[in-house]
Amino acid sequence: MCGIVGFTGRRQACPILLDGLEHLEYRGYDSAGIAISDGNKDHPLHIRRVKGRLRALREMTHDGQTEQGSSGIGHTRWATHGEPTVENAHPHVSGEGRVAVVHNGIIENYQDLRVTLEKRGYVFQSQTDTETVAHLLDYYYKGDAVDAIMRTVMHLRGSFALGILFQDRPGEVWGVRRDSPLIAATSDDGAFIASDVPAILPYTRNVCYLNNMEIVHLTEDGAEFFNMDGEHIDKDFQQVQWDVEAAEKGGYAHFMLKEIHEQPKAMQDTIHPHIRDGRIVLDELGMSDEEIRAVRRIQMVACGSAWHVCMTARYVMEQMAGLPVDVDLASEFRYRNPVLEEGTLLMVVSQSGETADSLAALRYGKDHGMRTLAIVNVMGSSIAREADRVFYTSAGPEIAVATTKAYSTQLAACYMLAMHFAIVRGTMSEEDYSRHVTALLALPHQIEQLLGCENRMQWLAGKYANSRDAFFIGRGLDYASVLEGALKLKEISYIHAEAYAAGELKHGTISLIEKGSMVLAVATQKELLEKEVSNIVEVKSRGATMLGLTMEGNYAMEDQVDFTIYVPRTEDCFYPSLVVIPLQLLAYYVSLARGIDVDKPRNLAKSVTVE
Ligand code: F6R
Repeated sequence: MCGIVGFTGRRQACPILLDGLEHLEYRGYDSAGIAISDGNKDHPLHIRRVKGRLRALREMTHDGQTEQGSSGIGHTRWATHGEPTVENAHPHVSGEGRVAVVHNGIIENYQDLRVTLEKRGYVFQSQTDTETVAHLLDYYYKGDAVDAIMRTVMHLRGSFALGILFQDRPGEVWGVRRDSPLIAATSDDGAFIASDVPAILPYTRNVCYLNNMEIVHLTEDGAEFFNMDGEHIDKDFQQVQWDVEAAEKGGYAHFMLKEIHEQPKAMQDTIHPHIRDGRIVLDELGMSDEEIRAVRRIQMVACGSAWHVCMTARYVMEQMAGLPVDVDLASEFRYRNPVLEEGTLLMVVSQSGETADSLAALRYGKDHGMRTLAIVNVMGSSIAREADRVFYTSAGPEIAVATTKAYSTQLAACYMLAMHFAIVRGTMSEEDYSRHVTALLALPHQIEQLLGCENRMQWLAGKYANSRDAFFIGRGLDYASVLEGALKLKEISYIHAEAYAAGELKHGTISLIEKGSMVLAVATQKELLEKEVSNIVEVKSRGATMLGLTMEGNYAMEDQVDFTIYVPRTEDCFYPSLVVIPLQLLAYYVSLARGIDVDKPRNLAKSVTVE
């Protein structure tokens, strides 16, 4: 949802900004721009902006060589207000170039602000909400940057992470945030701000996460921080553990393919630290057995694929721990005035930990007295900081817009929570528990094995690449899995794909099925196999081309479908972790066959920090 970066120090800023933006392009890639100060406060800031991808900005600046200066800010945009054009690209400037701003987030009251600013004589050059911030800063700036920033942000409703340059303060970069992420970092060469860690990793690991309404001031000697009273505050820096390679392609054609292949390790890293002597140990969660026994109901909220994880978790948690589980889309939950009973545990699932709707849902729950537990991948993210309890997944940085390894590790976290809750609450026998622990530990290896079906999935993708529609069907847990399969395919291949609970087809959807319709059926739940086979037969007899995804040994499937893919055997509740692998590979190769930019599909961004 837009990436921002800033640098000041003892090196040329432009190449550093371009590199940083390259690592943030996953957040948006509609346009890109930079503002550079050449160190002379009488010279205007150099602004360069392009429509489209960052490479156009690289070309325009000869890889950053044409813009001389050791401080600057940069932006890569995911358009919200105004089309992706040069005029709407950031940085936005005011006061004939006295102030330049890059912004991630949404200023909700920008129209009111615009009217006020126009009355004050400001002329707008773009349709963006961000330009109001540039003009407000110019209006309030009388030589004291902290004061101008404080006054400006007091007038803003909505979310923002801002990077700011003042023409008359060469060598300084300013930043401030509310509800959109911003980090500061320092190295021997200077200081940085960025929306996310990968942007600064080639230069430093020394990182500080800004809290809401904190201001950062960068100079070549480091970073200092202020609160909204204009007072200096001390903040801790942390050493980022993962390295640059983790955020690079490492020989794979795309991040998505790399991340698909990283799943055995990501699963291993998420599961193994929590298993000791055959038991699940969740000490870091800090939830006592009494607290777990006091839970009466679970309310899960998330967006997109993380919501699919919740749909899976509902089946698993209800079955194992005997707890009622409700699942909501975060964007719906926060506005539907949900009735929240005492004893409800609110669980939020989020890779980035910054998704605006999920964060708002978490805050809603807290405001209504609920205990909260978050499953998050990014350390120090807003959701991780605000939840009462946090279960960190260890997927490492996920760059491709379409999630793969984060989804898998979120599933693993949910399995472990369900099993732990079940044993504490006495709803699972010791025998079942040990069997499930053994099966859980086997998942990383089974995923590795399954990745062997890559060539077959590539071949199948070739056959289906020209489909107009695709239908995914499943029952029970398989329904949760097909929701994810359909989303993966549609978001990166642009083929219209829908998931249906197989039993629902005859209530309307089956009228869409015609000769040649592509239907993919997932069937792994023993209790439901016969019922699903009936649904498959119904669809097949209407002329659909059927693809079946089932477990080894269920060879009867081959009689009903045109192609079958087998996954290794596991416990029923863990099949979602296996069936998703061929579904991800299918989506990846269909996208590739259609010539789409797999890692950066149109209209999407990795981290959705706006509503
Ligand atoms: C789809 C995808 C999205 C995210 C969703 C939530 O491939 O990645 O649907 O799952 O935007 O994001 P997080 O997990 O960061 O809250």
